Amino acid sequence: MKNLLVGQSGGPTAVINASLGGVISAASLHPQEIGRIYGMRNGIEGFLKGNIIDLTGMSGKDVNRLEYTPGAYLGSCRYRLPADLQDPVYSQLFEKFQELDIGYVFYIGGNDSMDTVSRLSRHAATIGSDIRFIGIPKTIDNDLILTDHTPGFGSAAKYVAASVCEIGLDASGYEAKSVTIIEIMGRHAGWLTAAAALSRKFEGDNPILIYLPEVAFDQEDFIRRIEKAFETKNSLIVCVSEGIHDAEGKFICEYTGSAGTDTFGHKMLTGCGKYLENLVRERLGIKVRSVELNLCQRCSIFSQSLTDAREAALAGSSAVEAALKGESGKMVSFVRTSDEPYELTCSLEDVNSICNQEKKVPLEWITKDGTDVSEEFLTYARPLIQGNPAIPMKNGLPDYAYRR
Ligand code: F6P
Repeated sequence: MKNLLVGQSGGPTAVINASLGGVISAASLHPQEIGRIYGMRNGIEGFLKGNIIDLTGMSGKDVNRLEYTPGAYLGSCRYRLPADLQDPVYSQLFEKFQELDIGYVFYIGGNDSMDTVSRLSRHAATIGSDIRFIGIPKTIDNDLILTDHTPGFGSAAKYVAASVCEIGLDASGYEAKSVTIIEIMGRHAGWLTAAAALSRKFEGDNPILIYLPEVAFDQEDFIRRIEKAFETKNSLIVCVSEGIHDAEGKFICEYTGSAGTDTFGHKMLTGCGKYLENLVRERLGIKVRSVELNLCQRCSIFSQSLTDAREAALAGSSAVEAALKGESGKMVSFVRTSDEPYELTCSLEDVNSICNQEKKVPLEWITKDGTDVSEEFLTYARPLIQGNPAIPMKNGLPDYAYRR
């Protein structure tokens, strides 16, 4: 019998805790093999400081609450382990694993977090440790390779599509010409911005332009397209990814000043919507507004996709089953077996092939002029936003799981 350790890392999603719930539920089905269930507070960074939480006695009700609680319940981090596997940090970590008698480690995160799983499992191999390390995918960016999609994307895509629809209805209330620019997350991969296309109800409906980071953004061409669109429509919605850049690779948000970096060294990309708002105002002198969906797109529970929540929990439970079968150094992946009816199974992939890679929207799924996405994208994304969870409410608000 060994103990289990689970952590969360990177930007949260609306279903990151559903995966945690999947781990806890699956672990409790194996009382002969798994003893205590520990959570890392603030990922591997917090664990290094000795911050853990004992989840063993968590009630079934609280585990259920995780399914519809946004944010990282255990707390998150953006922390990279050293590339040198002989760095003393590894002995510190493995000593802590030993103290807690850990046999299974699960890390819920995106490509940087899979790097942590890769490094820990490779270090384990060098010292002959039999601790098993499994990655559980998570990111609204949907940019992990070797998996059909990532938990978190479906709910964020649903939020984006619903918000674009609602903003469009609001903005079209006036007769006067207006442009509303919606800035959507996703640094180098435009999956989430592409989801704005799911909001269209008829040919020619908003959003009239969708710009992804996969294609260089040309400011002059953008202005020309706005002018042209006004020939047939008064209220225009434009969706832009936070990571759009010009042909030289300069981010559009950097036209307002330099972008800061996070602890992973990633540029913090925010503000291209505001920049474009000012550009349209200066050049066209019409009413223009920018809306940054910001954190709402990854934490809104009212837009959670039931499909996404169920798959996130499945990813967590599959990880536990895989570790119990002796797997390590792997990430749970999704394999789509059919679009209609939508069907999916879980598999495992070598985490070393996944970490530090980014899956972009295929260029064949972006229209030739770089301002829209194709039917293939819609067929791919539509099943992922289906279903609404029944959210238990208290005093008019969702009865979330709170960690005091
Ligand atoms: O990890 C995904 C993500 O949500 C990106 O889409 C976004 O650019 C980034 O995280 C923001 O990170 P943070 O919350 O750390 O600023």
